[in-house]
Amino acid sequence: MTEAAAQLSSAGLETARLDARLLLGYATGITQEALIGYPERAVDGDALARYRTYIERRARHEPLAYVTGEKEFWGLTLGVTAHTLIPRPDSETLVAVVLDALPDRNAPWRILDLGTGSGCLLLALLKELPNARGVGVDIDPSAVTQAARNAQVLGMESRSHWHVGCWAEGVSGPFDIVISNPPYIPAAAITALAPEVAEYEPHLALDGGVDGLICYRQITAELDGLLAPGGIAAFEFGIGQGAAVRDIGIHAGLRFVTSAHDLAGIERCVVFSTNVRKA
Ligand SMILES: C[S@@+](CC[C@H](N)C(=O)[O-])C[C@H]1O[C@@H](n2cnc3c(N)ncnc32)[C@H](O)[C@@H]1O
Repeated sequence: MTEAAAQLSSAGLETARLDARLLLGYATGITQEALIGYPERAVDGDALARYRTYIERRARHEPLAYVTGEKEFWGLTLGVTAHTLIPRPDSETLVAVVLDALPDRNAPWRILDLGTGSGCLLLALLKELPNARGVGVDIDPSAVTQAARNAQVLGMESRSHWHVGCWAEGVSGPFDIVISNPPYIPAAAITALAPEVAEYEPHLALDGGVDGLICYRQITAELDGLLAPGGIAAFEFGIGQGAAVRDIGIHAGLRFVTSAHDLAGIERCVVFSTNVRKA
């Protein structure tokens, strides 16, 4: 493991030792606790070959989650592929703010997740809302396949439906909750992102057009008739985009409810509601 950590370190990875240990566990099936106690244990031929391949991939800055094919989100283990954005801890803010906005977690909420990727946001909400059902939409058919697979592995397939489409095209509502973490990086800024993101994560999941805000304009324009009276729409956005996203929602006829900050104190999402209250 020391040799592998040195290889990752010379490739410029700050988390070299941790990554080397996580990948060793993944290649061998040995627990992290056992590896911490005895890091230089002998590894058999097949596992060693797997480990070397994983280390080579990580040394080329491929994200750990793509090498292992999984990522934890909201206590769920989700499968990820090169077609799905790797779920970020920051996105748990969106899940938390939606849950806070609901008066009753046992109600049969109808949820629409636009740009579902791995399905992380919808699956996290379904985990917390036992009688809710949801539709996850993505323009990338491979992402939709992976989201459906994640739902199946987690036993949530009967409460979820996965659909290939451009935002809400072909989807019929109404929904009580619409969520989206759309692509929000200004197109020209993508190449300046860390190689882990710019070279490996799907550009369909990153590219928010010239100003990074195009998807919010498209999505909010589609909410009329899709959102039930009194329903809520919650969006994640990038650093410094809060005021602009609020304005876009208000301009589309939504009522601003609240915004929420992530654990680093960065304003990260906004909740709107329809202007009509549920009877
Ligand atoms: C930032 S990623 C978010 C993925 C996931 N919801 C998450 O939070 O990790 C944005 C997602 O939107 C999808 N997407 C981009 N344009 C879209 C469109 N016009 N209609 C539907 N989905 C789209 C991308 O394929 C990508 O999966």
